[in-house]
This record gives sequence, C-alpha cells and structure tokens, in this order.
Amino acid sequence: MIRYEYIRSLESNARTYAETFKTVFESGSGFRIRDAGGREILDCLGCAGALPLGHNHPEVTREIVRFVQSGQLQQTLDLSTPAKYEFMQELVATLPGSWARDIKIQFCSPSGSDAVEAALKLVRFATQRQVIIAFHGAYHGMTAGSLAAMGSTIAKAGFISGVSGVHFAPFPHRFRCPFGSDGSDTDRLCLNYLRTILTDPESGITRPAGILVEAVQGEGGCIPASVQWLNGLAALAREHDVPLILDEVQTGFGRTGSMFAFEAAGISPDVVVLSKALGGGYPLAAILYKRRLDKWCRGMHAGTFRGNQIAMVAGKTTMRVIREEQLVARAEELGTLLASGLERLSATFDEIGDVRGRGLMIGVEVVVRNVDGSPGRPDGARAAKIKQAAFEEGLLLENGGRQGAVLRFLPPLNITTEDVVEVLARFERALVRTQRELKGLYVSEGRRAALL
Ligand SMILES: Cc1ncc(COP(=O)(O)O)c(C=O)c1O
Repeated sequence: MIRYEYIRSLESNARTYAETFKTVFESGSGFRIRDAGGREILDCLGCAGALPLGHNHPEVTREIVRFVQSGQLQQTLDLSTPAKYEFMQELVATLPGSWARDIKIQFCSPSGSDAVEAALKLVRFATQRQVIIAFHGAYHGMTAGSLAAMGSTIAKAGFISGVSGVHFAPFPHRFRCPFGSDGSDTDRLCLNYLRTILTDPESGITRPAGILVEAVQGEGGCIPASVQWLNGLAALAREHDVPLILDEVQTGFGRTGSMFAFEAAGISPDVVVLSKALGGGYPLAAILYKRRLDKWCRGMHAGTFRGNQIAMVAGKTTMRVIREEQLVARAEELGTLLASGLERLSATFDEIGDVRGRGLMIGVEVVVRNVDGSPGRPDGARAAKIKQAAFEEGLLLENGGRQGAVLRFLPPLNITTEDVVEVLARFERALVRTQRELKGLYVSEGRRAALL
C-alpha cells in the first residue's frame, strides 16, 4: 500500500499542491483521474495548465512508445536529431505565418522559469540595457531572475532585493483597477502610467531592455488584458524600441481560445516564452524571438536537459492533435459554456465576486460582500475552503491571485459539454458544502458592519 504520509514525512516544507490534496494519485485518462482509494476526480488543475489533452492521451502515448522502442536517442543536450527536426517543423507551422518567418528558437532547460531567464538574458544582451518592466500580479517562475519579475511580494520576501533591475507597472484589471477606477478606464490609466515611465526623464527608470508580460495573467488571478491594452502596450514598446516579451508559458497552445494569446490582439512580440503545453505535458521549454535579437553567442544559455526527445515527440503530437481536432475553437466554445455556468452560479452565491478569463483559462474570485452588497475584499480563506470542498466532491482546482482568492479552472481543451456540466455540478456542491460549514462561524464583513 502506497502511503501518503510516508511521502509527506520526507518531503520539504516547501511542497505545494500535495499539501492541499492529501491523497495518492494513481491513474488518469483525459481529465478523469483516480486516487489510491479508487475515487474519480475531475482534473481542472491540469498540472497547472500543462496538459492540453489531459492525462495519457492515446495518440501521445502511442507516439512515445513507438519512439522509445525505435532506438533513437532520448537525451541529447541540444544536438540535432530527427525528433527535434519534426518537432521544430510542427512548431513553426503552429505559429502565425508572418511572425514565424522571422524567428529563431532557443531550447532551454525544461521549465518555464528557465525560459524566462533566457528571455531576460537575450534582451539584456541584445540591447545592452539592464532594466526590465514587469507588471503587478505577474508570475514568471521561481528562479532568481524570473522571481524578481514576479508580482507576489510574499513569494519574493527574503529572496529578492530591490536591486534586481526589475520595475513594476500596473496591470489593467477591470474588477480591481489599480487606480481605483470602476474598471472601465483601467486600460487607459495603466497605459498612461507606463508611457510616463518610458517618456519622463524624471521617472527614475532608465530605458528598459524589455517589457515582460502575460496576455492573461494566470497565477496572478486569471486576469485577461484586453486586446486594446495589448495593442497599446505593443505600440509603446515599438515607439521606444523596447523588446516586448510575451510569456505564453500558461496561455500557449490554444488555452485561451487562440493558439497563442498574443494572436487575439494581432500583435507581433519580439520574444515569446513557451513551456508547459509545449512538450505535451512533458518537460520542455523554449524561447522564440525575432532574428534581430540573436546577438548572443554560443553557450550563453546552456543547460544539460535541453534536448528531451520524448517531450519533443509528445509536443509535436499534441500540436498535431490540437490542430486536427480543432481544439482551439473548442477551448473558446467550452470556455464560454463554463464561464456562463459559473456566472449563473454567481447569481445565487454571493461569495462569487467575479468570473473572468479567456477560453479554458477561467477564474472565479471569492469575495466578502460590502454592506451595500457590492463585492468587497478578496476572501482567500473562503476560497481555500471551497477548493478543499471541491476536492472532497471530486474536483481538482488551482487557486491564485491576491490572497489566493481566485479559484482557477484549467481543464484539458478536449473536454466535452457533458464534462463541463459535471464540473459545474461538483463546483456548486462545493459552494453549498462550504456555506453549510461556515454557517454560524462566518459573518460577512457587510453583515458584521450592519450588526455593530
Ligand atoms: C506565465 C508563467 N510563466 C512562467 C512560469 C514558470 O514555469 P515553471 O513552473 O515551469 O518554471 C509559469 C508557471 O506557472 C507561468 O504560469
């Protein structure tokens, strides 16, 4: 019998998901997984968005088995191989045509964090500048350079000092505008602020080497930037000759209802960072960038495991399946269905303050209501309870955002309408279960104020 407690007792205090989901996960197919007790769980955590086809997709498995038995090399530093050739061909075919004609690829060590590191080094070397602009709420990884570009002060405390070379600009947020507007003006205000940073000789910030951004912030609480804001951002970057780096680690490969989130805005980034779905759920990471930035020299971003051939086979197959089964359009369609179901629940459950996202990257912000009934502060404690209750109902969710109050849905792109209905039903039961549990214990801020 495999014991959860044995694993837990040996693993570090820094472990994350396993601390919330206290079971041993044994098997899975698509977005249905089973734990050691035989319980079926719907996986909307999806390896934090790394599984566009869910677990053990038959075609991916078949291709991997075929490859492993073929005698080809499986780990190769960055040597040239047939698997790499085929992977690169499929990747280039997946990119927007005009953009793909002008790019170079650097394979990185297999994590999004390392690819972000590579992107920062690339633009710093190419521009011979130091400063990076990142955004409030950003998540780019856990290595020193990528962590420096993260919004969360909790994750950085004690690790990153103020001399990291990263400056932060406000990210547009309709639900919680950083300028306190009602949200309708958030794009304009955020762009104005960034324009000031770039143009005011007294802004205190020297010309940046790059602007690093997620088109839809993931870990930061599922916050989509509008097409208008992304266009404004790209225009500002161009105007000031600052390379624009799109971190598509979580949004890439159909997740947001376009193959890459930047495509929806029709912009042409200078660098795109990819991982998670890039390797079809196997470890792989790369940056794609415009040729004019290719000024660095041999070995400037080396690493042993940059040639994971199994991940290349899985990634190539995953891209093909996404294309053949038109899963990008499906993500859009089923994302709309899931979001509207969650909106419906928000009419009944006051604790849902906002439903937002794009495609199958959807977040529900849990809030405390104000006296007047309007959404108040984020309620991370309640979100944690709902997440736990959802797990007990057989639904795995991710959370993120300020105070961890945003419950995030990242199911595979190939789920069905019936799957969405089942997810909604389980989530509703989790909301009810949490309300019952908190009844008597929990007094909303509004109610508390009314009682006083
Ligand atoms: C947008 C984004 N960038 C970078 C990363 C870091 O990737 P990894 O966890 O593979 O280092 C993540 C991880 O969630 C991410 O969401």
